[in-house]
Amino acid sequence: MVLSTQLTTHPHIAAEVIRSGGIVAFPTETVYGLGADIFNKSAIEKIFEAKQRPPDNPLIAHVSSLNQMTLLTNEVTDNAKSLVDAFFPGPLTVVLKRSARVPYAATAGLDTIGIRMPEHSLARRFLAACGTPVAAPSANLSGRPSPTTWQAVLEDLNGRIDCILQGDPTDIGLESTVVDCTVDPPLLLRKGAVSIEELRRVVAGTRADEVNGQEDIRSPGLRHRHYTPSAKIILVEPDLIRADTANSAYIGLVPPVWDVGKRVICGSVEDYAQQMFEFFRECDRLGIEKIYCQMVDEVGIGSALMDRLRRAASA
Ligand code: TXA
Ligand code: MG
Repeated sequence: MVLSTQLTTHPHIAAEVIRSGGIVAFPTETVYGLGADIFNKSAIEKIFEAKQRPPDNPLIAHVSSLNQMTLLTNEVTDNAKSLVDAFFPGPLTVVLKRSARVPYAATAGLDTIGIRMPEHSLARRFLAACGTPVAAPSANLSGRPSPTTWQAVLEDLNGRIDCILQGDPTDIGLESTVVDCTVDPPLLLRKGAVSIEELRRVVAGTRADEVNGQEDIRSPGLRHRHYTPSAKIILVEPDLIRADTANSAYIGLVPPVWDVGKRVICGSVEDYAQQMFEFFRECDRLGIEKIYCQMVDEVGIGSALMDRLRRAASA
């Protein structure tokens, strides 16, 4: 269905759209999300339609208070409590048993629900004004790089969603860390800004062993094509590569030894993570065919960055 997509900087206007059953893109500290009232089944269905999202991929519930978690789950495990105490609000999603009130439309038929409380101040004002938990995947067309600016949301979803709450480019630039707390010890399902090292400082036994393989069974979203620009992604050590540089681009921490037309040299791994998805989109706009990406050490957010780069490279 073709909608006229309203742009606003006012969280209460965007929240009113949610309360009347619409779908709204909004900024968080990770990436922009596409939200609907989690208890409104037809609004949830609109998200899947707008994004062309596979129906087996569950949504994350965004809450504005710890109190709202009780609407979504009756079983906050001790491990989940510890992680929530340590990392909410922030870039962490905990997966818990779903309460009967949460429609299967939001969980893609699963008996669990991912819950996250963003720290971003505009997101918090918006979510508080919605007065309900907001189910939201990233606000991109399925398979495309996640949006880190409201303009990227518009590029993918103009005319397909009711409203965009316009904020600044997102600070982190990668999606939240997802941890399954229905199992003991908890299991890392998706790497993000909260690193495995940080998780283990709070819950020592947190497992990450399956995160490069088996997790695809538990975290349906990871099965699907993800994070990919049209350009081919090639991972490189910058000092080693001598490559065909026609119509290609480069992103990394150090300048490549070879000449390439379009390049971004990032000041830190955090900066690289923050810029990556938008750089992919910009390269697509320019019709670039190959994007060379410097590999980074897999510690802290570098681990999540390498996870996204590998997925994009193997797509
Ligand atoms: O940072 C983020 O997490 C952003 C912002 C908007 O909050 N959201 C986001 O949503 O990245 P999405 O839908 O693009 O990714 C959600 C991921 C998927 O891999 C999905 O499979 C997983 O979380 N997930 C959600 N609910 C789950 C559940 N009940 N069990 C296992 N995995 C779940
Ligand atoms: Mg996504």
